[in-house]
Amino acid sequence: MVKVYLDHVTKIFPPRTVAVDDVTLEIPEGELVGLLGPSGCGKTTTLRIIAGLEKPTKGRVYFDDEDVTGKEPRERNVAMVFQFPILYPTVSVYENIALPLRAEKMPEDEVRREVNRIAELMGIKEYLGMKPGRLDIGVRQKVALAKALIRDPSIFILDEPLTVIDPKMRVELRTKLKQIQLDLGKSMIYVTHDQAEALTLAERIAVMKDGKILQYDVPERLYDRPSNSFVGWFIGNPGMNLIECSASVEGGCLVMTNENGFRYSIEGVGEIKVPGKVVFGIRPEYVKVEEGGDAMRATCIHVEHAGNRQILHLQFYGESLKAKVPLGVRVSPGDTVPVKFVAEKIRIFDPSTGNLIL
Ligand SMILES: Nc1ncnc2c1ncn2[C@@H]1O[C@H](COP(=O)(O)OP(=O)(O)OP(=O)(O)O)[C@@H](O)[C@H]1O
Ligand SMILES: [Mg+2]
Repeated sequence: MVKVYLDHVTKIFPPRTVAVDDVTLEIPEGELVGLLGPSGCGKTTTLRIIAGLEKPTKGRVYFDDEDVTGKEPRERNVAMVFQFPILYPTVSVYENIALPLRAEKMPEDEVRREVNRIAELMGIKEYLGMKPGRLDIGVRQKVALAKALIRDPSIFILDEPLTVIDPKMRVELRTKLKQIQLDLGKSMIYVTHDQAEALTLAERIAVMKDGKILQYDVPERLYDRPSNSFVGWFIGNPGMNLIECSASVEGGCLVMTNENGFRYSIEGVGEIKVPGKVVFGIRPEYVKVEEGGDAMRATCIHVEHAGNRQILHLQFYGESLKAKVPLGVRVSPGDTVPVKFVAEKIRIFDPSTGNLIL
């Protein structure tokens, strides 16, 4: 296992697609790191650069202290699993899985033992004698995972490996992958655009947008202290409410207003400098539908049931606002409801950069 380090890596596809934009990222040895972001943000390109399948336009790639930027994929010993399984169609599942071990010249009885062990683990023993072409895509993907996991590579790279697997099996396989990674203590980088997958698997997650890493942090901090409004909106179900408003600081008090009558103040901010406009951020979990002296008003548009909670879609001073509230809160579309915010959970962002101000 190695520590992987990307040092100011940029990848430009001619003529001018900046797929990866000045990314610096360390994947510590033995850790499972998630790479999360919307379609086209540069996740696959970043992985391909680590694997050596793409050369960066600028920047260096290190495995431990060795600069591998110029090295070919086969010299890097990276095990990759892609969104769609890549297997040899003409040989059996057994032979497909055994191939990497044969390449390492492992004795035949050991190969048999290892293939059986991993097949058992992935739940694909019954398919060992079959050719991949006869199997459905989910099983083939499990074979591809088995083939990668049986090796002892420098790092595992998984690019949305569970997307083709049906939802129920996906959750099961996700748990299995996490177990395997913990058991083996292998470095793994796992790409997904499914945040639930990233949050359950990864110890640390890099959130990407437009080729850039906006935040690289543990899940709790991505949730509680997003350093950028995009991270706040992207992480969470539903994501953070974001309300753009005018802002001014008067005597250590940040006053935010909008033209539809929204007004909210935060005291004790000191002499901070804020731009004329800010983005007020609050997670739906911290929007309370409660009466009280400082309660504001909103109109309920729609009530969405979400397991043991309900999500209220509210119209709030010309903005839409979501509140995640207990089932006991009785609200119907058309109702006017009181709204309060959990003050310490409010986050303020700069609208031009998205960066956290407060
Ligand atoms: N070989 C290529 N030639 C030209 N442009 C490319 C190439 N590969 C990727 N791109 C572009 O680079 C950007 C990043 O692509 P990439 O595949 O890395 O995104 P992604 O985050 O993996 O997206 P997805 O979630 O859809 O898989 C996109 O704009 C894409 O169109
Ligand atoms: Mg991709």
